[in-house]
Amino acid sequence: MMRTAACIFDLDGVIVDTARYHFLAWKKLADQLGVHFTEEDNERLKGVSRMASLNIILELGDIKTDEISKVRYATLKNNWYVDFINKMTPGELLPGSIDFIMELKKAKIRVAIGSASKNTPLILMRVGILQLFDAVADGNNVSKAKPNPDVFLKAAEMVNIKPQNCVVFEDAIAGVQAALNAGMMCIGIGSPKILTEAHFVVSGLKDMNLEKLLTIEKISGYEKLL
Ligand code: G6P
Ligand code: MG
Repeated sequence: MMRTAACIFDLDGVIVDTARYHFLAWKKLADQLGVHFTEEDNERLKGVSRMASLNIILELGDIKTDEISKVRYATLKNNWYVDFINKMTPGELLPGSIDFIMELKKAKIRVAIGSASKNTPLILMRVGILQLFDAVADGNNVSKAKPNPDVFLKAAEMVNIKPQNCVVFEDAIAGVQAALNAGMMCIGIGSPKILTEAHFVVSGLKDMNLEKLLTIEKISGYEKLL
């Protein structure tokens, strides 16, 4: 018997490769502000809310500023970012993501989105998968950012499944921590060297299927926690 009754997916970097667009838009802002900002620094921004991300960039450049300027900077970045995502097509879905989600749905496992992004509905629409999910919890209906567990707890509540029966797929350190804080199993998407706290790490959803999920439940000892 499987323990998993719902799978909750982070969006950016798990289902679509928007992490790249976030980086390019933040990089453009950092350049304008004269802040040295690398792809390595960008790891700290993954999964983190828009304002918290801006604060990290300002901190990197040792810049102190008022709230009005902060809102202006965040708006600038978001406008550049939205320019990128408005051009997205279904071709930008990450390999294997839809196949895996369809397999889960066939097995009557609920599927939900748990993302900090306020742009979630726009992205899902652009890549043509808005109708695929049983629930969408995002930056528009949850205010506390990862590593706070709220976005995943909200997704679990929306699909009516207990947190201990949910599995989260996450590419961000803050997101893995949010999943653990929610009492959920977490499968990292990316590098095991970065996502050290995840129960298991795969390089992408192309490496996932239902049988493997069952195996991961077993080897992580997760199935015994019922
Ligand atoms: C995701 C991304 C973050 C981003 C956050 C807010 O979690 O991983 O990099 O900052 O969403 O996105 P938004 O589209 O609302 O600015
Ligand atoms: Mg992500």
